[in-house]
Amino acid sequence: MTKKVWGGRFRENINETVDAFNSSIGFDGRLYAQDIEGSMAHCRMLAKQGIISDDDAARILDALTEIKREIERGELRITDEHEDIHTFVEKALIEKTGAVGEKIHTARSRNDQVALDVRMYVREAVERVSGMIKELQKALVGVAGKNIELIMPGYTHLQPAQPVLLAHHLMAYYEMLKRDRQRFEDSIKRVNILPLGSAALAGTTFNLDREMVAKELGFDSVSMNSMDAVSDRDFVIEFIFASSVLMMHLSRLSEDMIIWSSMEFGYVALPDAFCTGSSIMPQKKNPDILELIRGKTGRVYGNLISLLTVMKGLPLTYNKDMQEDKEALFDTIDTISQCLSVITMLLGRVTFNGDSMKKATQDGYIMATDLADYLVNKGMTFRSAHETAGKIVLYAIDRKKHLEELSLEEYKGFAVQIDSDVFKWLEPASAIKRRNITGGTGSEAVEKAINRAKKETAS
Ligand code: ARG
Repeated sequence: MTKKVWGGRFRENINETVDAFNSSIGFDGRLYAQDIEGSMAHCRMLAKQGIISDDDAARILDALTEIKREIERGELRITDEHEDIHTFVEKALIEKTGAVGEKIHTARSRNDQVALDVRMYVREAVERVSGMIKELQKALVGVAGKNIELIMPGYTHLQPAQPVLLAHHLMAYYEMLKRDRQRFEDSIKRVNILPLGSAALAGTTFNLDREMVAKELGFDSVSMNSMDAVSDRDFVIEFIFASSVLMMHLSRLSEDMIIWSSMEFGYVALPDAFCTGSSIMPQKKNPDILELIRGKTGRVYGNLISLLTVMKGLPLTYNKDMQEDKEALFDTIDTISQCLSVITMLLGRVTFNGDSMKKATQDGYIMATDLADYLVNKGMTFRSAHETAGKIVLYAIDRKKHLEELSLEEYKGFAVQIDSDVFKWLEPASAIKRRNITGGTGSEAVEKAINRAKKETAS
């Protein structure tokens, strides 16, 4: 255990078990680069304001640069006897520079320091995650474009509903991911605000130039209330919320593909390299990867609920409860990064089985809506067309026939308006052709959507 930075007023050393319990170094070591960068900007500003000398600042800056390099090379190990990454860096600095390094914490508290570090970390994570989402969008667009001609049943209640293009189904996920990216990127407005200068909670007596620090560290503005700045973790919660919605989307995509890869559906073949087998059943090829993505959604939701709960009862301002934000945040970042990368690779290698899909479009009476629309075009009201089409479906079910297998005479028995053109009308491909409305599953509409998506994800 190293000497505590706050040891002055204590009569005895901290209990060892308590020390381990209290420490965050085991997980906040990840913030070393942000912590050092923040300290360097703070140091330059202290010198510019005449709070420390230029010579002292130069020595501190050199030492911090060295510390960063040594950590990166593995020469300086972030070890457990330190309380957190902030005290670790400060100790390392003092070891290198002696009393000069003791000046770095002037006009600063770990409370505004940790808020700064986490904001910088989240800012980078948003950029990385947004790039990964874009890669997944591109993969979706790629598979959609490659399989543009495949028709499958669209489902509601997991019951066959109407024919759709597989590409249209896939592009639905493109839209979800587009919103995900927007959500992450929009959050930057609220992340990119400098808390440093708030000190412990009340601001500081020193004449800091907060704007200078903000500019150096790439922040858009400085926080307006020191008490809010040190006790705010909204931006972490928002990140985990955006991640939760993203995971919900990945989970639904996984679930769709799990169903499609089942023997009963057989729409999609997953690459062997992305599946696993069974220790007892030799024939098995299981979609574990997709199941894991679906499963990991739970832990990201857990992180969200955990942090919302941590924050809900805290009196202003900083409380140690807030140290719990980091594991939830880091675990979320790691989980979504892994899931995004795996599912993007998998999508690049799936193959679709047009025959199984086609067969499925012939079962399930998915042309019934189109039959009703046909009757409307022949002059019926939609309500009675719906009723008539329903009766025709029931009639066909009773005779174990598909709609296209009924004779014209049988059709005419239900509505004299029905003509021989009904058979062409009842082909799933015709149903697709009739739906070129914006946002519809018509081939032209979907091609337009794909082209728009390509433009949106170019660069
Ligand atoms: N490790 C602490 C955290 O993550 C840093 C802030 C400590 N501040 C304090 N007043 N004890 O929240």
